[in-house]
Amino acid sequence: MPKAKSTKSVKTPAKSPAHATPAKAWQARIGDAADPLAEKFVESISFDYRLAEHDIRGSLAHADMLCTKGMISVSDLAAIRKGLNSILDDIRSGTFEFDLKQEDIHMAVEAALIQRVGDPGRKLHTARSRNDQVALDIRLWCVAAIDRVAQLLTELQRAYVALARQDGGVVMPAYTHLQRAQPILFGHELLAYVEMFQRDRDRLADCRARTNISPLGSGAVGGSTLPIDRLQVARQLGMQDITANSLDSISDRDFVVEFAFALSMIAMHLSRWAEQWILYSSTEFDFIRIADQYTTGSSMMPQKRNPDMLELIRGRTGGVYGQLVALLTMLKGQPLAYNRDMQEDKRWLFAGFDSVELSLQIAAPIVKSAVIKPESIARRLDEGFLDATVLAEYLVRKSVPFRTAHQIVGSMVAYCEREGLTRLADIPREVMQSMSPKIDTDVRDVLGAGNVVAAYQSAGAGGIKQLSAQLKRWSKTLK
Ligand code: ARG
Repeated sequence: MPKAKSTKSVKTPAKSPAHATPAKAWQARIGDAADPLAEKFVESISFDYRLAEHDIRGSLAHADMLCTKGMISVSDLAAIRKGLNSILDDIRSGTFEFDLKQEDIHMAVEAALIQRVGDPGRKLHTARSRNDQVALDIRLWCVAAIDRVAQLLTELQRAYVALARQDGGVVMPAYTHLQRAQPILFGHELLAYVEMFQRDRDRLADCRARTNISPLGSGAVGGSTLPIDRLQVARQLGMQDITANSLDSISDRDFVVEFAFALSMIAMHLSRWAEQWILYSSTEFDFIRIADQYTTGSSMMPQKRNPDMLELIRGRTGGVYGQLVALLTMLKGQPLAYNRDMQEDKRWLFAGFDSVELSLQIAAPIVKSAVIKPESIARRLDEGFLDATVLAEYLVRKSVPFRTAHQIVGSMVAYCEREGLTRLADIPREVMQSMSPKIDTDVRDVLGAGNVVAAYQSAGAGGIKQLSAQLKRWSKTLK
Protein backbone atom coordinates (compact mmCIF):
# COMPACT_ATOMS: atom_id res chain seq x y z
CA MET A 1 0.00 0.00 0.00
CA PRO A 2 1.16 3.55 -0.67
CA LYS A 3 1.77 6.09 2.08
CA ALA A 4 -0.52 5.64 5.04
CA LYS A 5 -1.27 8.25 7.61
CA SER A 6 -2.31 6.26 10.63
CA THR A 7 -3.93 8.17 13.44
CA LYS A 8 -4.19 11.88 12.72
CA SER A 9 -7.35 13.06 11.03
CA VAL A 10 -7.33 15.38 8.04
CA LYS A 11 -7.18 19.09 8.96
CA THR A 12 -10.04 21.11 7.53
CA PRO A 13 -10.21 24.85 6.84
CA ALA A 14 -11.76 26.99 9.57
CA LYS A 15 -15.54 26.99 9.45
CA SER A 16 -18.43 28.05 11.58
CA PRO A 17 -19.20 25.54 14.38
CA ALA A 18 -22.58 24.76 12.77
CA HIS A 19 -20.92 22.72 10.03
CA ALA A 20 -17.53 21.96 11.52
CA THR A 21 -16.11 18.88 9.84
CA PRO A 22 -15.78 15.88 12.15
CA ALA A 23 -12.95 13.39 11.64
CA LYS A 24 -15.29 11.20 9.62
CA ALA A 25 -18.07 12.37 7.35
CA TRP A 26 -20.73 10.41 9.27
CA GLN A 27 -19.44 11.28 12.73
CA ALA A 28 -21.95 14.02 13.59
CA ARG A 29 -24.58 11.38 14.44
CA ILE A 30 -22.41 8.82 16.20
CA GLY A 31 -19.95 10.86 18.22
CA ASP A 32 -16.21 10.77 18.44
CA ALA A 33 -15.44 7.79 20.66
CA ALA A 34 -13.45 5.69 18.24
CA ASP A 35 -11.83 2.50 19.46
CA PRO A 36 -8.57 2.07 17.52
CA LEU A 37 -9.20 -1.66 17.26
CA ALA A 38 -12.67 -1.05 15.81
CA GLU A 39 -11.18 1.43 13.36
CA LYS A 40 -8.62 -1.08 12.28
CA PHE A 41 -11.26 -3.78 11.99
CA VAL A 42 -13.62 -1.77 9.84
CA GLU A 43 -11.25 0.03 7.51
CA SER A 44 -10.81 -0.98 3.89
CA ILE A 45 -8.49 1.75 2.73
CA SER A 46 -5.52 -0.58 3.16
CA PHE A 47 -6.80 -2.45 0.10
CA ASP A 48 -9.46 -0.31 -1.56
CA TYR A 49 -6.90 2.45 -2.20
CA ARG A 50 -6.63 0.58 -5.48
CA LEU A 51 -10.00 2.05 -6.48
CA ALA A 52 -8.65 5.61 -6.13
CA GLU A 53 -8.34 6.53 -9.79
CA HIS A 54 -11.76 5.14 -10.59
CA ASP A 55 -13.27 6.86 -7.58
CA ILE A 56 -11.96 10.19 -8.80
CA ARG A 57 -13.10 9.54 -12.38
CA GLY A 58 -16.57 8.79 -11.05
CA SER A 59 -16.57 11.91 -8.88
CA LEU A 60 -15.49 14.12 -11.77
CA ALA A 61 -18.37 12.83 -13.89
CA HIS A 62 -20.80 13.18 -10.98
CA ALA A 63 -19.69 16.77 -10.34
CA ASP A 64 -20.08 17.66 -14.03
CA MET A 65 -23.62 16.34 -13.92
CA LEU A 66 -24.44 18.24 -10.70
CA CYS A 67 -23.34 21.41 -12.45
CA THR A 68 -25.25 20.67 -15.68
CA LYS A 69 -28.37 20.15 -13.60
CA GLY A 70 -27.81 23.38 -11.67
CA MET A 71 -27.12 21.75 -8.30
CA ILE A 72 -23.66 23.26 -8.01
CA SER A 73 -22.27 26.41 -9.60
CA VAL A 74 -19.69 26.59 -12.36
CA SER A 75 -17.15 27.91 -9.87
CA ASP A 76 -17.93 25.06 -7.44
CA LEU A 77 -17.33 22.64 -10.28
CA ALA A 78 -14.05 24.31 -11.19
CA ALA A 79 -12.87 24.04 -7.57
CA ILE A 80 -13.94 20.40 -7.31
CA ARG A 81 -12.19 19.55 -10.57
CA LYS A 82 -9.03 21.30 -9.53
CA GLY A 83 -9.06 19.59 -6.14
CA LEU A 84 -9.80 16.10 -7.49
CA ASN A 85 -7.16 16.43 -10.20
CA SER A 86 -4.56 17.51 -7.69
CA ILE A 87 -5.45 14.51 -5.51
CA LEU A 88 -5.15 12.28 -8.58
CA ASP A 89 -1.72 13.74 -9.33
CA ASP A 90 -0.61 13.09 -5.77
CA ILE A 91 -1.92 9.52 -5.88
CA ARG A 92 -0.12 8.87 -9.15
CA SER A 93 3.14 10.34 -7.90
CA GLY A 94 2.84 8.38 -4.64
CA THR A 95 2.71 11.46 -2.40
CA PHE A 96 -0.94 11.19 -1.38
CA GLU A 97 -1.32 10.21 2.25
CA PHE A 98 -4.02 7.58 2.69
CA ASP A 99 -5.58 8.33 6.03
CA LEU A 100 -6.56 5.08 7.77
CA LYS A 101 -8.96 7.06 9.97
CA GLN A 102 -11.05 7.74 6.90
CA GLU A 103 -12.17 4.11 6.69
CA ASP A 104 -12.13 3.82 2.95
CA ILE A 105 -10.91 5.41 -0.23
CA HIS A 106 -14.18 7.22 -0.85
CA MET A 107 -14.05 9.08 2.44
CA ALA A 108 -10.32 9.67 2.13
CA VAL A 109 -10.67 11.35 -1.24
CA GLU A 110 -13.65 13.41 -0.13
CA ALA A 111 -11.90 14.52 3.05
CA ALA A 112 -8.80 15.49 1.09
CA LEU A 113 -10.97 17.40 -1.38
CA ILE A 114 -12.68 19.37 1.38
CA GLN A 115 -9.32 20.05 2.94
CA ARG A 116 -7.95 21.36 -0.34
CA VAL A 117 -10.89 23.35 -1.74
CA GLY A 118 -13.19 23.93 1.22
CA ASP A 119 -16.95 24.34 0.81
CA PRO A 120 -17.31 23.34 -2.86
CA GLY A 121 -15.85 19.98 -1.82
CA ARG A 122 -18.70 19.60 0.67
CA LYS A 123 -21.15 19.59 -2.24
CA LEU A 124 -19.66 16.69 -4.16
CA HIS A 125 -21.57 14.03 -2.28
CA THR A 126 -24.94 15.56 -3.27
CA ALA A 127 -27.37 12.82 -4.37
CA ARG A 128 -24.76 10.16 -3.78
CA SER A 129 -24.03 7.54 -1.14
CA ARG A 130 -20.93 5.46 -0.63
CA ASN A 131 -23.18 2.53 -1.50
CA ASP A 132 -23.69 3.54 -5.12
CA GLN A 133 -20.24 5.12 -5.23
CA VAL A 134 -18.44 1.91 -4.32
CA ALA A 135 -20.66 -0.09 -6.67
CA LEU A 136 -19.61 2.25 -9.48
CA ASP A 137 -15.93 2.17 -8.54
CA ILE A 138 -15.75 -1.62 -8.52
CA ARG A 139 -17.49 -1.77 -11.87
CA LEU A 140 -15.01 0.70 -13.34
CA TRP A 141 -12.11 -1.19 -11.78
CA CYS A 142 -13.43 -4.51 -13.14
CA VAL A 143 -13.81 -3.13 -16.66
CA ALA A 144 -10.17 -1.99 -16.64
CA ALA A 145 -9.05 -5.30 -15.12
CA ILE A 146 -11.04 -7.29 -17.68
CA ASP A 147 -9.35 -5.34 -20.48
CA ARG A 148 -5.96 -6.00 -18.97
CA VAL A 149 -6.58 -9.75 -18.64
CA ALA A 150 -7.97 -9.91 -22.18
CA GLN A 151 -4.85 -8.20 -23.47
CA LEU A 152 -2.57 -10.62 -21.63
CA LEU A 153 -4.59 -13.57 -22.95
CA THR A 154 -4.16 -12.27 -26.48
CA GLU A 155 -0.42 -12.01 -26.01
CA LEU A 156 -0.30 -15.55 -24.71
CA GLN A 157 -2.37 -16.80 -27.63
CA ARG A 158 0.06 -15.09 -29.99
CA ALA A 159 2.96 -16.85 -28.29
CA TYR A 160 1.35 -20.28 -28.86
CA VAL A 161 0.61 -19.44 -32.48
CA ALA A 162 4.19 -18.26 -33.07
CA LEU A 163 5.56 -21.50 -31.61
CA ALA A 164 3.06 -23.52 -33.65
CA ARG A 165 4.20 -21.70 -36.81
CA GLN A 166 7.82 -22.40 -36.03
CA ASP A 167 7.76 -26.01 -34.75
CA GLY A 168 4.15 -27.06 -35.12
CA GLY A 169 4.89 -29.61 -37.82
CA VAL A 170 6.57 -32.04 -35.41
CA VAL A 171 4.58 -35.29 -35.22
CA MET A 172 3.84 -36.36 -31.66
CA PRO A 173 1.62 -38.79 -29.79
CA ALA A 174 -1.68 -37.51 -28.46
CA TYR A 175 -2.83 -39.12 -25.21
CA THR A 176 -6.03 -40.26 -23.61
CA HIS A 177 -5.81 -41.60 -20.06
CA LEU A 178 -2.17 -40.52 -20.39
CA GLN A 179 -1.73 -43.54 -22.68
CA ARG A 180 -0.56 -43.11 -26.24
CA ALA A 181 -3.59 -42.79 -28.51
CA GLN A 182 -3.28 -41.22 -31.98
CA PRO A 183 -0.58 -39.19 -33.68
CA ILE A 184 -1.06 -35.44 -34.10
CA LEU A 185 1.07 -32.44 -34.96
CA PHE A 186 2.59 -30.52 -32.06
CA GLY A 187 1.02 -27.38 -33.48
CA HIS A 188 -2.39 -28.92 -33.04
CA GLU A 189 -1.80 -29.32 -29.33
CA LEU A 190 -0.51 -25.76 -29.02
CA LEU A 191 -3.61 -24.46 -30.76
CA ALA A 192 -5.80 -26.37 -28.31
CA TYR A 193 -4.67 -23.86 -25.68
CA VAL A 194 -5.38 -20.99 -28.05
CA GLU A 195 -8.97 -22.25 -28.29
CA MET A 196 -9.32 -22.40 -24.48
CA PHE A 197 -7.97 -18.88 -24.03
CA GLN A 198 -10.24 -17.62 -26.80
CA ARG A 199 -13.25 -18.91 -24.90
CA ASP A 200 -11.83 -17.15 -21.82
CA ARG A 201 -11.66 -13.92 -23.77
CA ASP A 202 -15.21 -14.38 -25.00
CA ARG A 203 -16.34 -14.99 -21.43
CA LEU A 204 -14.59 -11.80 -20.32
CA ALA A 205 -16.21 -9.80 -23.10
CA ASP A 206 -19.59 -11.13 -22.05
CA CYS A 207 -18.94 -10.27 -18.41
CA ARG A 208 -17.67 -6.82 -19.42
CA ALA A 209 -20.95 -6.00 -21.13
CA ARG A 210 -22.88 -6.71 -17.92
CA THR A 211 -20.30 -4.85 -15.80
CA ASN A 212 -20.01 -1.65 -17.79
CA ILE A 213 -23.32 -0.24 -16.53
CA SER A 214 -23.60 2.62 -14.09
CA PRO A 215 -25.29 2.22 -10.70
CA LEU A 216 -24.44 5.80 -9.67
CA GLY A 217 -27.46 7.82 -8.65
CA SER A 218 -29.07 4.91 -6.86
CA GLY A 219 -28.10 6.68 -3.65
CA ALA A 220 -28.02 4.82 -0.36
CA VAL A 221 -30.77 2.42 -1.36
CA GLY A 222 -33.95 4.10 -2.62
CA GLY A 223 -32.64 6.81 -4.95
CA SER A 224 -32.60 10.62 -4.69
CA THR A 225 -35.28 13.29 -4.82
CA LEU A 226 -32.86 15.64 -6.57
CA PRO A 227 -33.12 16.02 -10.36
CA ILE A 228 -29.97 14.09 -11.28
CA ASP A 229 -29.19 12.81 -14.76
CA ARG A 230 -27.79 9.32 -14.32
CA LEU A 231 -27.37 8.73 -18.01
CA GLN A 232 -25.11 11.75 -18.41
CA VAL A 233 -22.72 10.33 -15.79
CA ALA A 234 -22.81 6.89 -17.39
CA ARG A 235 -22.06 8.29 -20.84
CA GLN A 236 -19.23 10.43 -19.57
CA LEU A 237 -17.68 7.36 -17.98
CA GLY A 238 -17.97 5.39 -21.22
CA MET A 239 -20.56 3.10 -19.70
CA GLN A 240 -23.21 1.40 -21.79
CA ASP A 241 -26.29 2.14 -19.73
CA ILE A 242 -27.64 2.77 -16.22
CA THR A 243 -28.97 0.11 -13.86
CA ALA A 244 -32.76 -0.01 -13.53
CA ASN A 245 -33.38 -0.74 -9.85
CA SER A 246 -31.72 1.17 -7.02
CA LEU A 247 -32.01 -1.72 -4.60
CA ASP A 248 -30.36 -4.11 -7.00
CA SER A 249 -27.79 -1.50 -8.08
CA ILE A 250 -26.18 -1.19 -4.70
CA SER A 251 -26.41 -4.84 -3.68
CA ASP A 252 -25.43 -6.46 -6.97
CA ARG A 253 -21.98 -8.00 -7.07
CA ASP A 254 -22.85 -10.59 -9.71
CA PHE A 255 -20.33 -9.05 -12.06
CA VAL A 256 -17.57 -9.51 -9.47
CA VAL A 257 -18.48 -13.19 -9.14
CA GLU A 258 -18.61 -13.56 -12.91
CA PHE A 259 -15.20 -12.01 -13.29
CA ALA A 260 -13.90 -14.19 -10.46
CA PHE A 261 -15.25 -17.21 -12.29
CA ALA A 262 -13.68 -16.11 -15.56
CA LEU A 263 -10.39 -15.73 -13.66
CA SER A 264 -10.83 -19.21 -12.17
CA MET A 265 -11.36 -20.69 -15.60
CA ILE A 266 -8.26 -18.95 -16.92
CA ALA A 267 -6.27 -20.19 -13.93
CA MET A 268 -7.55 -23.71 -14.59
CA HIS A 269 -6.53 -23.55 -18.26
CA LEU A 270 -3.14 -22.18 -17.32
CA SER A 271 -2.74 -24.91 -14.75
CA ARG A 272 -3.56 -27.68 -17.21
CA TRP A 273 -1.04 -26.31 -19.65
CA ALA A 274 1.56 -25.94 -16.88
CA GLU A 275 1.03 -29.55 -15.85
CA GLN A 276 1.35 -30.69 -19.46
CA TRP A 277 4.64 -28.92 -19.91
CA ILE A 278 5.95 -30.04 -16.54
CA LEU A 279 5.42 -33.59 -17.80
CA TYR A 280 6.84 -32.82 -21.23
CA SER A 281 10.00 -31.35 -19.77
CA SER A 282 10.66 -34.45 -17.64
CA THR A 283 13.31 -36.99 -18.64
CA GLU A 284 10.50 -39.51 -19.12
CA PHE A 285 8.81 -37.46 -21.85
CA ASP A 286 11.59 -35.12 -22.97
CA PHE A 287 9.35 -33.38 -25.53
CA ILE A 288 10.27 -29.80 -24.71
CA ARG A 289 12.93 -27.80 -22.95
CA ILE A 290 11.88 -24.88 -20.78
CA ALA A 291 14.30 -21.96 -21.08
CA ASP A 292 16.82 -21.72 -18.25
CA GLN A 293 15.44 -18.48 -16.85
CA TYR A 294 12.12 -20.20 -16.15
CA THR A 295 13.64 -23.04 -14.19
CA THR A 296 15.43 -23.16 -10.87
CA GLY A 297 18.16 -25.35 -9.44
CA SER A 298 18.23 -27.43 -6.31
CA SER A 299 20.15 -26.44 -3.19
CA MET A 300 21.44 -30.01 -2.91
CA MET A 301 21.23 -31.74 -6.29
CA PRO A 302 23.58 -30.05 -8.74
CA GLN A 303 21.98 -31.51 -11.89
CA LYS A 304 18.48 -30.13 -11.31
CA ARG A 305 16.50 -27.88 -13.61
CA ASN A 306 13.09 -27.60 -12.01
CA PRO A 307 10.10 -26.03 -13.78
CA ASP A 308 9.16 -23.94 -10.72
CA MET A 309 7.40 -21.17 -12.63
CA LEU A 310 5.04 -23.71 -14.19
CA GLU A 311 4.53 -25.37 -10.83
CA LEU A 312 3.61 -22.03 -9.28
CA ILE A 313 1.15 -21.29 -12.06
CA ARG A 314 -0.41 -24.66 -11.21
CA GLY A 315 -0.09 -24.14 -7.46
CA ARG A 316 -1.69 -20.70 -7.38
CA THR A 317 -4.82 -21.94 -9.10
CA GLY A 318 -6.26 -23.10 -5.78
CA GLY A 319 -6.08 -19.56 -4.44
CA VAL A 320 -7.96 -18.24 -7.45
CA TYR A 321 -10.74 -20.80 -6.96
CA GLY A 322 -10.75 -19.84 -3.29
CA GLN A 323 -11.61 -16.22 -4.05
CA LEU A 324 -14.56 -17.33 -6.17
CA VAL A 325 -15.95 -19.45 -3.35
CA ALA A 326 -15.28 -16.66 -0.83
CA LEU A 327 -17.25 -14.20 -2.96
CA LEU A 328 -20.19 -16.52 -3.48
CA THR A 329 -20.31 -17.34 0.21
CA MET A 330 -19.99 -13.70 1.24
CA LEU A 331 -23.06 -12.86 -0.81
CA LYS A 332 -25.35 -15.76 -0.09
CA GLY A 333 -26.72 -14.74 3.29
CA GLN A 334 -27.16 -11.02 2.74
CA PRO A 335 -30.55 -9.37 2.97
CA LEU A 336 -31.19 -6.49 0.58
CA ALA A 337 -29.52 -4.15 0.04
CA TYR A 338 -26.06 -2.92 1.08
CA ASN A 339 -24.33 -4.65 3.98
CA ARG A 340 -20.79 -4.13 5.13
CA ASP A 341 -20.01 -7.74 4.24
CA MET A 342 -19.69 -6.46 0.71
CA GLN A 343 -16.56 -4.55 1.55
CA GLU A 344 -14.75 -7.89 1.52
CA ASP A 345 -15.43 -8.41 -2.19
CA LYS A 346 -12.44 -6.29 -3.12
CA ARG A 347 -10.03 -8.32 -1.04
CA TRP A 348 -10.83 -11.48 -3.04
CA LEU A 349 -11.30 -9.75 -6.34
CA PHE A 350 -7.90 -8.07 -6.16
CA ALA A 351 -6.18 -11.24 -4.99
CA GLY A 352 -7.65 -13.33 -7.79
CA PHE A 353 -6.81 -10.73 -10.39
CA ASP A 354 -3.24 -10.26 -9.14
CA SER A 355 -2.57 -13.97 -9.22
CA VAL A 356 -3.94 -14.52 -12.73
CA GLU A 357 -2.29 -11.37 -14.04
CA LEU A 358 1.11 -12.55 -12.81
CA SER A 359 0.63 -16.07 -14.18
CA LEU A 360 -0.42 -14.74 -17.57
CA GLN A 361 2.50 -12.35 -17.62
CA ILE A 362 5.01 -15.11 -17.12
CA ALA A 363 3.24 -17.71 -19.27
CA ALA A 364 3.84 -15.85 -22.54
CA PRO A 365 7.65 -15.66 -22.25
CA ILE A 366 7.77 -19.30 -21.10
CA VAL A 367 5.95 -20.30 -24.29
CA LYS A 368 8.05 -17.98 -26.45
CA SER A 369 11.34 -19.34 -25.16
CA ALA A 370 10.43 -23.05 -25.07
CA VAL A 371 12.24 -25.42 -27.41
CA ILE A 372 10.44 -28.41 -28.87
CA LYS A 373 12.63 -31.52 -29.19
CA PRO A 374 11.75 -33.28 -32.48
CA GLU A 375 14.50 -35.95 -32.30
CA SER A 376 13.56 -37.00 -28.83
CA ILE A 377 9.87 -37.19 -29.75
CA ALA A 378 10.62 -39.07 -32.98
CA ARG A 379 12.79 -41.62 -31.22
CA ARG A 380 9.79 -43.24 -29.55
CA LEU A 381 7.05 -42.30 -31.98
CA ASP A 382 6.76 -45.91 -33.15
CA GLU A 383 5.84 -47.04 -29.67
CA GLY A 384 2.25 -47.28 -28.53
CA PHE A 385 0.60 -48.37 -31.83
CA LEU A 386 -0.48 -44.82 -32.66
CA ASP A 387 -1.56 -46.03 -36.13
CA ALA A 388 -3.96 -48.74 -34.88
CA THR A 389 -7.05 -46.60 -35.49
CA VAL A 390 -5.96 -45.66 -38.98
CA LEU A 391 -5.51 -49.36 -39.80
CA ALA A 392 -9.07 -50.06 -38.65
CA GLU A 393 -10.25 -47.18 -40.85
CA TYR A 394 -8.27 -48.64 -43.76
CA LEU A 395 -10.34 -51.83 -43.37
CA VAL A 396 -13.55 -49.77 -43.13
CA ARG A 397 -12.64 -48.24 -46.49
CA LYS A 398 -12.45 -51.84 -47.79
CA SER A 399 -16.02 -52.46 -46.58
CA VAL A 400 -15.20 -54.20 -43.29
CA PRO A 401 -17.68 -53.12 -40.57
CA PHE A 402 -15.91 -50.91 -38.03
CA ARG A 403 -16.48 -53.24 -35.05
CA THR A 404 -14.99 -56.15 -37.01
CA ALA A 405 -12.07 -53.98 -38.11
CA HIS A 406 -11.52 -52.93 -34.49
CA GLN A 407 -11.30 -56.61 -33.45
CA ILE A 408 -8.94 -57.51 -36.31
CA VAL A 409 -6.54 -54.68 -35.46
CA GLY A 410 -6.83 -55.57 -31.77
CA SER A 411 -5.62 -59.07 -32.64
CA MET A 412 -2.75 -57.60 -34.64
CA VAL A 413 -1.66 -55.49 -31.67
CA ALA A 414 -1.85 -58.60 -29.47
CA TYR A 415 0.25 -60.47 -32.06
CA CYS A 416 2.91 -57.72 -31.93
CA GLU A 417 3.03 -57.85 -28.15
CA ARG A 418 3.40 -61.67 -28.21
CA GLU A 419 6.13 -61.51 -30.83
CA GLY A 420 7.96 -58.55 -29.32
CA LEU A 421 7.24 -56.22 -32.28
CA THR A 422 6.68 -52.51 -31.58
CA ARG A 423 5.13 -51.53 -34.91
CA LEU A 424 2.10 -52.84 -36.80
CA ALA A 425 4.17 -52.32 -39.97
CA ASP A 426 6.57 -55.03 -38.74
CA ILE A 427 3.95 -57.79 -38.95
CA PRO A 428 4.75 -60.00 -41.95
CA ARG A 429 2.24 -59.41 -44.78
CA GLU A 430 1.09 -63.08 -44.82
CA VAL A 431 0.30 -62.90 -41.12
CA MET A 432 -1.70 -59.70 -41.62
CA GLN A 433 -3.54 -61.20 -44.56
CA SER A 434 -4.33 -64.33 -42.57
CA MET A 435 -6.06 -62.03 -40.05
CA SER A 436 -7.92 -60.12 -42.76
CA PRO A 437 -7.91 -60.96 -46.47
CA LYS A 438 -8.75 -57.30 -47.15
CA ILE A 439 -5.19 -56.28 -46.28
CA ASP A 440 -3.27 -55.36 -49.42
CA THR A 441 0.19 -53.98 -50.25
CA ASP A 442 -1.20 -50.43 -49.99
CA VAL A 443 -1.44 -50.90 -46.22
CA ARG A 444 2.16 -49.65 -46.09
CA ASP A 445 0.92 -46.23 -47.20
CA VAL A 446 -1.35 -45.76 -44.21
CA LEU A 447 0.80 -47.12 -41.39
CA GLY A 448 3.17 -44.94 -39.39
CA ALA A 449 2.46 -41.69 -37.52
CA GLY A 450 3.69 -39.52 -40.41
CA ASN A 451 1.19 -41.07 -42.81
CA VAL A 452 -1.62 -40.67 -40.34
CA VAL A 453 -1.19 -36.92 -39.87
CA ALA A 454 -1.11 -36.50 -43.65
CA ALA A 455 -4.28 -38.55 -44.02
CA TYR A 456 -6.56 -36.90 -41.44
CA GLN A 457 -9.69 -35.73 -43.21
CA SER A 458 -12.10 -34.58 -40.52
CA ALA A 459 -12.48 -30.92 -39.67
CA GLY A 460 -10.60 -30.05 -36.49
CA ALA A 461 -8.30 -33.10 -36.69
CA GLY A 462 -4.63 -33.01 -35.71
CA GLY A 463 -3.27 -33.30 -39.23
CA ILE A 464 -1.29 -31.24 -41.70
CA LYS A 465 -4.19 -29.76 -43.69
CA GLN A 466 -6.11 -28.80 -40.59
CA LEU A 467 -3.11 -27.21 -38.87
CA SER A 468 -2.31 -24.97 -41.76
CA ALA A 469 -5.95 -23.84 -41.98
CA GLN A 470 -6.07 -23.15 -38.22
CA LEU A 471 -2.78 -21.26 -38.28
CA LYS A 472 -4.15 -19.02 -41.01
CA ARG A 473 -7.32 -18.45 -39.05
CA TRP A 474 -5.50 -17.56 -35.82
CA SER A 475 -2.92 -15.34 -37.48
CA LYS A 476 -5.79 -13.33 -38.90
CA THR A 477 -7.86 -13.22 -35.69
CA LEU A 478 -4.93 -12.33 -33.45
CA LYS A 479 -3.40 -9.64 -35.65
N1 ARG B 1 -15.91 0.69 2.09
C1 ARG B 1 -17.26 0.36 1.83
C2 ARG B 1 -17.33 -0.86 0.92
O1 ARG B 1 -16.36 -1.17 0.34
C3 ARG B 1 -17.96 1.48 1.14
C4 ARG B 1 -19.44 1.53 1.36
C5 ARG B 1 -19.72 1.85 2.75
N2 ARG B 1 -21.11 2.09 2.94
C6 ARG B 1 -21.65 2.12 4.14
N3 ARG B 1 -22.91 2.31 4.20
N4 ARG B 1 -20.94 1.92 5.22
O2 ARG B 1 -18.33 -1.52 0.80
